[in-house]
Amino acid sequence: GLVNTRAMFAQAMEEQFAVPAYNFNNMEQLQAIVTGCVQSASPLILQVSGSARKYIGTAFLPHMARAAVDLAEELGRPIPIALHLDHGGSAELAKECVDSGFSSVMIDASHESFQENIRITREVVAYAHDHGVSVESELGVLAGIEDEVSAEHSSYTRPQEVEEFLNATGVDSLAISIGTSHGAYKFRLKPGEQPPPLRFDILDEIERRVPGFPIVLHGASSVLPEYVALVNRYGGKMENAAGIPEEQLRRAAASAVCKINIDSDGRLAMTAIIRKVFAEKPGEFDPRKYLGPARDALIELIVHKNTEVLGSAGRV
Ligand code: G3H
Ligand code: 13P
Ligand code: NA
Ligand code: ZN
Repeated sequence: GLVNTRAMFAQAMEEQFAVPAYNFNNMEQLQAIVTGCVQSASPLILQVSGSARKYIGTAFLPHMARAAVDLAEELGRPIPIALHLDHGGSAELAKECVDSGFSSVMIDASHESFQENIRITREVVAYAHDHGVSVESELGVLAGIEDEVSAEHSSYTRPQEVEEFLNATGVDSLAISIGTSHGAYKFRLKPGEQPPPLRFDILDEIERRVPGFPIVLHGASSVLPEYVALVNRYGGKMENAAGIPEEQLRRAAASAVCKINIDSDGRLAMTAIIRKVFAEKPGEFDPRKYLGPARDALIELIVHKNTEVLGSAGRV
């Protein structure tokens, strides 16, 4: 069955890697994520946003989670799998997800005042912990568009607020803002320019204040140039797309960061391959002929992330 994130994070902290949290919306993404994690023997956090939950529908979602667990077994290597609500926009939604079989939820009240964030988070923690479900919360705001949460600019997490927040809420993990953001356009860069480094000084200060506490990094896609190039080559238009360099994520994974969220990179890989098939075989209209290769590309991407970036491969 599904597991909560507690044992995963304890292992990640101890062994200095990060557990991958991949978003999914459909069957092919789910199959690819599970297959990639089984092939690389990695623990897995499967996450759905509020809007992804609506897209999938409540009739399907519990069965898809169950199918994920069954698929890993069928492939010959059961791996720990958590089903996590990503960016829960209200306590009501988070509780609904606890009731419908999620093993982990995020309550994202990071756009509220500090005290209001504490109040809402506490409410979710009390309910979720009663049901054995782990809770992630967020302090600080990421730039860009989050699901049901939007902010023009980042405001970095203030390390001096972290200890009080953790004590007051009892959350199991904390998402922080140190320079990542959501989507495929994380930085406006001039040609040849490197993105600014993440604020590891803030992360270090947080670790100093709450040693051993699991930290979460959202907005951690690398927006790999080879996929952007494929999209643009085959009729797409993604100008100035940019993500977090893998080297920065390797460094984060070796720290107290225990969960790294990746959505955009998977979307990009699938879209690139679908565009390629459409361009090269314009007569093709069997969905399996383009969703199949897209699924294969996503498996490869997942294995790459787990093996080369997060260090979660071989931990099961
Ligand atoms: O952080 C948000 C995730 O990438 C999911 O976004 O609301 O488009 O499903 P979504
Ligand atoms: P990316 O858009 O960088 O993939 O971030 C995903 C995320 O943080 C989901 O919560
Ligand atoms: Na880590
Ligand atoms: Zn996020």
